Amino acid sequence: MTSSEHTDILYVDCVVATMQKGQPNYGLIEGAGIAVSGGRVQWVGLVKEVPRAFVGYAKESLNGKLVTPALIDCHTHLVFGGNRAGEFELRLKGASYEEISRQGGGIVSTVNATRAASEDQLFETALMRLDSLLSEGVAVVEIKSGYGLTVKDEIRMLKVARQLEQSRKVKIVTTWLAAHAIPKEYAGRSDQYIDDVVIAGLHEAAAKGLVDAVDAFCEDIAFSNEQVERVFKEARTLGLPVKLHAEQLTNQEGALLVARYEGLSADHLEYLADKDVSTFARSGAVAVLLPGAYYTLNESQKPPIDTLRAQGVDIAVATDCNPGSSPISSLLTAMNMACNQFALTPEEALAGATRCAASALGLSEDYGTIESGKKADFCLWNVEHPAELTYWVGGNPLTRRIHF
Ligand code: NIG
Ligand code: FE
Repeated sequence: MTSSEHTDILYVDCVVATMQKGQPNYGLIEGAGIAVSGGRVQWVGLVKEVPRAFVGYAKESLNGKLVTPALIDCHTHLVFGGNRAGEFELRLKGASYEEISRQGGGIVSTVNATRAASEDQLFETALMRLDSLLSEGVAVVEIKSGYGLTVKDEIRMLKVARQLEQSRKVKIVTTWLAAHAIPKEYAGRSDQYIDDVVIAGLHEAAAKGLVDAVDAFCEDIAFSNEQVERVFKEARTLGLPVKLHAEQLTNQEGALLVARYEGLSADHLEYLADKDVSTFARSGAVAVLLPGAYYTLNESQKPPIDTLRAQGVDIAVATDCNPGSSPISSLLTAMNMACNQFALTPEEALAGATRCAASALGLSEDYGTIESGKKADFCLWNVEHPAELTYWVGGNPLTRRIHF
């Protein structure tokens, strides 16, 4: 439900998980109140201690429900053509993700389907997946390019991504991921591809205002650390933040590169070496876990969670929604997987889809926690305790999203 931006409201009779950093136990406040004015939180606390300034606000009871910050999916490939159910069948018969990729399947097969799809088709299929996320209280979605692999087709993907924002109450953040795979027309000429498409296209897309951040796939089957650094340098000249698909299948020291370029996040991280975590931690970048890809590819190497935790790295959780390695458009399911597969606590998983996800997108000023000054964008849940948000699998306890 949308309320008018001009209304002053005091929400009462609720339990609030503020998810503020440093507050124990989800920042849980029983008997809570939240004062909202101009679409921003003015105050959150015990309703019996409501400051004078907010006593006159129109009161609205939330009937004892649990309130959390709205969710954030900070890593998706939501816009693409076709699907890869055929590869799913091949993998079930024993073929690996890398083998399929080397044989011309994988990302490149989605590239063919994406180039062949009309903008309307791309829009309609992405909207279906977006609606699935929104039904669970997601308010912010990051969407990458990376299935066009020509300047024109990459820009088309980002345009479609931005159009989604016109149709739904959601904030879309777009990422330039032309360095996702080497298209067949550049086979054996990956450096040339970086110059002609990744870098030239980045300038063009950025000039059109379509790029919020720059990403790449640093992997044996994609781009080397040195090639990614060339792209990061270019991002820096444009003042754009970087992030990276790093250490998913092998250790390429991608997370260290992110740290050197003061990036927003390194994502996947199954093969991140323990010894590199302290450097990564000092950079302040977020570790984005993508348990849907780990699950889908039946991986066994887990990210170094204990070390990340011990070094105080912010850990986010995202769907990685994509047709190959993570055909998942449920952030609650990804949160459950992060607990079951990577042993995150339910509290860490919720922080991973709220506060830490906001940080991974550079949006901490507006999103991710319920606290004074941030946007009033909340989820109301039909649960008794926040741990239930990661405990139920396939259910959806969202009863309402409050936003302005
Ligand atoms: O995040 N790792 C690279 N990119 C995607 C997979 C894309 C695909 O297989 O289509 C990922 O897992
Ligand atoms: Fe990804």
